Amino acid sequence: MIRVGVLTLSDKGASGDRKDESGPTIKRIVKSIGAKVEYYKVIPDDKEGIIKELKKQVDDLGLDLILTTGGTGLSPRDFTPDATLEVIEREVPGLAEAMRAKSLKKTSRAMLTRGLAGTRANSLIVNLPGSPKAVRECLEVILDVLPHAIEILQGRGGECGRAEGKG
Ligand code: MTE
Repeated sequence: MIRVGVLTLSDKGASGDRKDESGPTIKRIVKSIGAKVEYYKVIPDDKEGIIKELKKQVDDLGLDLILTTGGTGLSPRDFTPDATLEVIEREVPGLAEAMRAKSLKKTSRAMLTRGLAGTRANSLIVNLPGSPKAVRECLEVILDVLPHAIEILQGRGGECGRAEGKG
């Protein structure tokens, strides 16, 4: 069972001006790989706050996978990738590259997300864009690979030679 943390970054979501639909969308989608969201929070686009939350989810809660949504673009209040970069120990560029590449076939605006992915200790952190549509489009690209990624990260001897598409 993959233990997941979901962090929604949204000033409006955190103040109650907008209902977060992206976090619940993530919750629904990850069920299909037998993962369970054990922690979910909506916080404002504040860089220090994001750093603190990510560290808590890794260092205190020991979650396997942390999916953030929102705050990956170019607006002055978009800090998620910048905060994530300060928290991760190793970047996993392929995950973000794959999401952008596949998403570009659906919308040219996919090039506007600065989202990244990386590891800290035994946790994998992945930035997703903010809209529920973008969350669906991006997660579907990486979903099958996530169990294997976490298995390898945690040194549980995953077999890398298995057939494509079986995780
Ligand atoms: N990626 C996918 N797959 N689908 C989308 O609709 N929207 C883009 C981009 N990535 C989008 C996407 C847009 S319009 C923006 S501005 C950036 O993600 C950043 O979004 P964020 O600031 O909500 O994280």
